[in-house]
Amino acid sequence: MSQIQWFPGHMAKARREVTEKLQLVDVVIELLDARIPISSQNPMIHEITQNKRKIIVLNKADLADDHITKAWIHELRTEEIPVIAVDSQHQKGIKQLQQLIRQQMKPYHDAQKAKGIKPRATRLMIIGIPNVGKSTLINRFVGKNQTQTGNKPGVTKQQRWLKIGKDFELLDTPGILWPKFEDPDTGKKLAITGAIKDSLLHMDDLALYLIDILREHYPETLMERYRLSHEQLTDASSVDLLLAMTRKMNLQDNYDEASERFIFDYRQNRLGEISLDRPSEENS
Ligand code: G4P
Repeated sequence: MSQIQWFPGHMAKARREVTEKLQLVDVVIELLDARIPISSQNPMIHEITQNKRKIIVLNKADLADDHITKAWIHELRTEEIPVIAVDSQHQKGIKQLQQLIRQQMKPYHDAQKAKGIKPRATRLMIIGIPNVGKSTLINRFVGKNQTQTGNKPGVTKQQRWLKIGKDFELLDTPGILWPKFEDPDTGKKLAITGAIKDSLLHMDDLALYLIDILREHYPETLMERYRLSHEQLTDASSVDLLLAMTRKMNLQDNYDEASERFIFDYRQNRLGEISLDRPSEENS
């Protein structure tokens, strides 16, 4: 795989912008892709969000393996940081997320009330790598309940807030952090799920990598979709499997085209719900 270069300047700028916005919010929502909760996490995020109330949201849960998503929720959550799976596109889990935010804020609000202070609306921001579903979640979160938008002075410029009912105010622009990876597998997973541009990696490399994952964890899917035999799956090399799939797609030996179709099938959810990152222990 070719080495992908990340510009330290961009990273520093993104970090600065996110850190500034963080000062304005009560709770930060870290959005991850449920299929790749580790690969879609920006490594700086722990440091940047220290001392902030945080909720980890595993988005695109409709595309991920439910069993693995549950295991991830178990593995990632801590006493301070709850984890929830949502499907922003189909508006699933949004109410539960709002409930979780209320729970996060409850001790603080109780303390405020004890001092005779009426709690104000909870200020939120969504943060995550490109394409993880930030805009979709903002739209779903706001829904039809948005009553007005308001301005508040930010550190560098005016920030626009979306008011949601009387309980929440959401920053209208999410925090964007770039994925960073030293390990080539992370890059491949980001490319397969569509988080980074295809042109950065070779499609056949991605296809071979996905074949290996499916062969290990979802063999039936591979057999059924591409009409491969059990023997092929156990005995053939990944390259031979890709060639067999190419023929089943009637593409003769055009395995570049077949690789593209295969990755597209994955992205379009035609292979079913498949998780690419797996927790160290798959809790059953
Ligand atoms: P971003 O702001 O973080 O960059 O992401 P954005 O909301 O634009 O979402 C990126 C793509 O992911 C969008 O597809 C969106 O519809 C899809 N998406 C977001 N949340 C979910 C989810 O929970 N489930 C599923 N299945 N898809 C989700 P798009 O722009 O239409 O691109 P595409 O559909 O052509 O890939």
